[in-house]
Amino acid sequence: MTHANPRPLTLSARGPLRGAIAVPGDKSISHRAIMFSALAVGESRIEGLLEGEDVLATAAAMRAMGASVERGDDGVWRVHGVGVGGLLQPEGALDMGNSGTSTRLLMGLVAAHAITVTFTGDASLSSRPMGRVIEPLSTMGAEITASPGGRLPLMVRGRTPAIPIAYTLPVASAQVKSAVLLAGLNTPGITRVIEPVPTRDHSERMLRGFGAELTVEDSPEGKVISITGEAELQPQDIVVPGDPSSAGFWMVAASIVPDSDVTIRNVCMNPTRTGLLTALRMMGADITELARREVGGEDVADLRVRHAPLRAITVPPELAPSMIDEYPILFVAAALAEGTTVARGAHELRVKESDRIATMAAALSAAGVVLEEHDDGLSITGTGGAPLPGGARIASKLDHRIAMSMAVAGLVAASPVTIDDVSPVATSYPDFFATLDALSE
Ligand code: S3P
Repeated sequence: MTHANPRPLTLSARGPLRGAIAVPGDKSISHRAIMFSALAVGESRIEGLLEGEDVLATAAAMRAMGASVERGDDGVWRVHGVGVGGLLQPEGALDMGNSGTSTRLLMGLVAAHAITVTFTGDASLSSRPMGRVIEPLSTMGAEITASPGGRLPLMVRGRTPAIPIAYTLPVASAQVKSAVLLAGLNTPGITRVIEPVPTRDHSERMLRGFGAELTVEDSPEGKVISITGEAELQPQDIVVPGDPSSAGFWMVAASIVPDSDVTIRNVCMNPTRTGLLTALRMMGADITELARREVGGEDVADLRVRHAPLRAITVPPELAPSMIDEYPILFVAAALAEGTTVARGAHELRVKESDRIATMAAALSAAGVVLEEHDDGLSITGTGGAPLPGGARIASKLDHRIAMSMAVAGLVAASPVTIDDVSPVATSYPDFFATLDALSE
């Protein structure tokens, strides 16, 4: 699986990484900022939006359904919403590119509107399971016709009024939770999601900020999130904090490249997103939090990361939901640690932009790393800080996080590492390679 115009890149070992950088806006928050603004009545302003391909796919979809979504010359995005219930029938199919978040959340929105929408995507997205959202949204009354295996392309015929449900999440997925809550926004009565294992809570925080009636209660079954439907959302001024998943690449890069000292500014520290920080600290990483503050209803901090010898750990499986996107870069850290790191209980990695267990096992093995593949993770025996052999050509499989993780591995490889296609990096971190160059000047 590669891009129509693959862009190969070769990385060689580099000297220390030094300097202060800011990471782009958080991807999850950026998607939600556009969607919720597009459902409010009036003008919302969004600062610090991630301008990656995935978020731009969400912006284009909301425009196709009637909202005005524009970027000003000042870098601030202005969105005029259509109001909950006001989405219009788009003229053509919505192309979601590589973005699972756009697809699953928008399926939820469409499910409770009187419109019919066809969703398409690239080869990676078209191989990902949508059954997990089709099931609850069908129970709410939407009619969904999917390609074999519950995949894209698929068509959602929304139902008005939709039927409120109480739905217990069978997988720990913020996308499924959000899809049901977004359908609940335009459904009469109360829609409930029961979440046995907590996942990122940006939808809950932001929906409340927009004025939705949403409560979260603890119960023996887990968190119960209730949303009162036929909501009216008030326009907001939003500041998007920096993406902790993007920061993860620099946290690991600075930890493993000798003599590095990097400060990453404005990183979202929402506790449902900080699993990698916890795991790296368990491994002995030297990461200091500076200037903790609040931005846009989220805790943020600057993180100072200095090179440190890492030791192997058994990654606690309960950390998985709070670091689900960070396993590929954690595997690179493990490859440089002393001893064998065991990371299991992360079966969900098999259904991300690529099968991240198989893709990282193949990539790291090609670069000379000793590892064992499990159905739900990897065991990786690290070099204890010595360079990786490298000298490999890596398949990034249309997966931005594989491309960036293996680029970081290339920084500590004895022989250069070539990535067959780095173009997917534009989905979440368009300036990744420019930032790498700036840090190694
Ligand atoms: C996301 C949720 C996670 C994560 C994805 C973004 C979100 O997916 O992997 O990158 O914004 O809700 P799952 O819900 O499939 O775990």
